[in-house]
Amino acid sequence: MTAGTKQLNRVRIAIGIIGAAIALGGVIDPLISHEMTTIAVHHLLHAGMAAGAGLLALAVALPGTDHERSLWIWPAVIAPAIGLLLMWPSEYAWLMSHPWLHMLDHLGIALTTLLAVYAAQAYVRGLGWLMLVLVVAMDAACAGGFGVSPGPSFLLHSTRQSTGTAMASNASFRRGTGEITTMHALGAKLYNTMGCSGCHSVDGSKSPGPGWKDLAGYPQKLSNGKTMIADYSFLRTMILEPGKIDLAGYPAGVMPVMYKAMLTGPKHPHEIRLNAIIWYINTLSHKAGKTSEPPVPDRLAK
Ligand code: HEC
Repeated sequence: MTAGTKQLNRVRIAIGIIGAAIALGGVIDPLISHEMTTIAVHHLLHAGMAAGAGLLALAVALPGTDHERSLWIWPAVIAPAIGLLLMWPSEYAWLMSHPWLHMLDHLGIALTTLLAVYAAQAYVRGLGWLMLVLVVAMDAACAGGFGVSPGPSFLLHSTRQSTGTAMASNASFRRGTGEITTMHALGAKLYNTMGCSGCHSVDGSKSPGPGWKDLAGYPQKLSNGKTMIADYSFLRTMILEPGKIDLAGYPAGVMPVMYKAMLTGPKHPHEIRLNAIIWYINTLSHKAGKTSEPPVPDRLAK
């Protein structure tokens, strides 16, 4: 072995170790983060992880030989397609509440990238680099829109596709309990745990209180004959100070007044729970929009 190849080997090993470290960081990320992130940022994480896995593949790829290796074209073509499927957008919110499966999903993305780059490099020496650029670009491109969805169908009964809402209501974060969740998933949970479900239906069926399906953004008839649009401040008032506005057809004083203390005040500086409930109500409506959605935290606002 000449001094030159030794040098080259050292560079290869270094690139391999760096690539492996980056890929590993990306794979275990779902288990160790989360501050709030948007789907776009999350896809950029995929791109970074793919770059690491690709570098690792290039570092371990076979040195060039002359014999025919045309079969490698198959994994080179199929692996990126599988990687793309693993980033299927509608499962994002679901994955966010299942960190271990999310980690496996990341592992899948890293491994398909590794295989794609390795196979391309084995097929034609040098093609691996092109594949690396392609896969990383594909992952990054997903951040531009492909990964934006209103969430998993079993949590939402919504057909609306407002990008802004989807982004913010899909924002994931770790709760005090260590659990990772999204705004609308948390809202759906609170709907049950805080007892709202006892009086409010979400599927349009009859319930003691007004149903939440197609509530946000729709006009509400008041007992004094006026109408108000169910925008954010209306929903907020109805939840926190239900005595203030009386809806036509519903008795005053039935909706409990205790929620204000449970959702606002110094113990709830960001009103995450209140906003989560209102996000959830928004996901149930065809007319939800900017005015009915909770304010987006500065960190998420573009
Ligand atoms: C004991 C039954 C009951 C429970 C429990 C209850 N509500 Fe209500 N809610 C009502 C009634 C009745 C009204 C109509 C109030 C009125 O007309 O003054 C109402 C109205 C509302 C409205 C306005 C709906 C509209 O059509 O404009 C919202 C929003 C709301 N409740 C949210 C909540 C949330 C959030 C919870 C749980 C944290 C909750 N409610 C728990 C009975 C209930």
